Amino acid sequence: MAFRESGNLKPFEKHIWLSSPTMHGEELKYMSDAFNTNWMSTVGENIDKAEELLADYIGVKYAVALSCGTAALHLATKLAGEKLYGQPRPNEGTLSGKTVFASDCTFDASINPIAYEDGNAVFIDTEYDTWNMDPKALEKAFSIYPDVKLVVLAHLYGTPGKAEEIKEICDRHGALIVEDAAESLGAKYKLGDKWVETGSLGDYNCISFNGNKIITGSSGGMFLTNSKEDAEKVRKWSTQSRENAPWYQHEEIGYNYRMSNVIAGVVRGQFPYLSEHIAQKKAIYERYKEGFKDLPVSMNPFDREKSEPNFWLSCMIIDKDYMCPQARDDNHAVYNSESNKSCPTEILETLSRFNAEGRPIWKPMHAQPIYRSHPFITANGNGRAVSNAYIDTGKALDVGMDIFSRGLCLPSDNKMTAEEQDKIIEIIKNCFR
Ligand SMILES: Cc1ncc(COP(=O)(O)O)c(C=O)c1O
Repeated sequence: MAFRESGNLKPFEKHIWLSSPTMHGEELKYMSDAFNTNWMSTVGENIDKAEELLADYIGVKYAVALSCGTAALHLATKLAGEKLYGQPRPNEGTLSGKTVFASDCTFDASINPIAYEDGNAVFIDTEYDTWNMDPKALEKAFSIYPDVKLVVLAHLYGTPGKAEEIKEICDRHGALIVEDAAESLGAKYKLGDKWVETGSLGDYNCISFNGNKIITGSSGGMFLTNSKEDAEKVRKWSTQSRENAPWYQHEEIGYNYRMSNVIAGVVRGQFPYLSEHIAQKKAIYERYKEGFKDLPVSMNPFDREKSEPNFWLSCMIIDKDYMCPQARDDNHAVYNSESNKSCPTEILETLSRFNAEGRPIWKPMHAQPIYRSHPFITANGNGRAVSNAYIDTGKALDVGMDIFSRGLCLPSDNKMTAEEQDKIIEIIKNCFR
């Protein structure tokens, strides 16, 4: 076995979380205000203030507070479809029959809205520099599907992707961008010579306040835009699509997606702590980087010239030559331990034995059972059916699956002490003995 029990390493008494909510007290005040004024609804001062705070911070004109990031992504994707292709027939989604390019390595919430709107996702492979959508693969995809007009772009783990290249490609092809900044609130990106926030880079932008995010509302999300008309449309859809009539009149499909005034109170109370959370997460990242400097691993990368991540989750990837054999089917993972080597499965199982929580990297969408029949495009072109039993085509590229196989998310809770983190580092070092 590669992992060597070393003397005094005992499981943590208190569970170490991947990323748990960090409350400060003001949240309770705003929640109580909602209670005391009886605005226990999807209307109220907390919602107005939370929208104002986020729009100002991100540098967009309008924010619409919604029940979750997935709702924001759904309405953003629906809106993009309607802008591109007009109002759908009553029983059809706005992307009916249309192809949409999407980040491959992400949470399925990023891209499910394409299916909600009857579109067909084509997954775009990942690059090694930021672990986000590969502009070269996107360019290839446009050469194969020149008519595509929509791209869903996620920034993973708080690290901005190559948005400048991707925006340039999309502009050239007349395509719109839905930006999934669910994980990257507070991450900055240098666009030209101007620093901007993620959440302002697309045509339709989304963030999440899910319980494990950099700040939380316990749940919640926001749609961000510079267009008043778009903000009003999303607000209408999110409140059951009421028309202007004295009764409940409906001419299009609606949703109950609005944020509650209680949740907005939590968001409002959390907001002043965003930069503190980012600083804590950055310190965690730096401590891991230093702690692992003698191991054959590296941290999730970012472009220092062009971005300042929010460091939401610290992740690591094991050098190819130091991977022990590991196999994963749809539901299980096994590995063969070897000395001086390890693998994500061994590390995650070991962390769990020590009462600490890590997580596999997002399994790429093109490898998910539900999306296996969808096209997958790499920097070499079609990413499926490229191996050949008789010759080495050298074309079987799959960066997302490689990062999934060799990478993992580390415990990144901002309440973890330096001593606890040092012990996590020690546990991981022991996996390589
Ligand atoms: C990349 C990404 N997109 C979308 C979402 C969905 O956000 P929510 O959980 O608020 O619906 C999440 C997180 O949960 C996410 O990590």
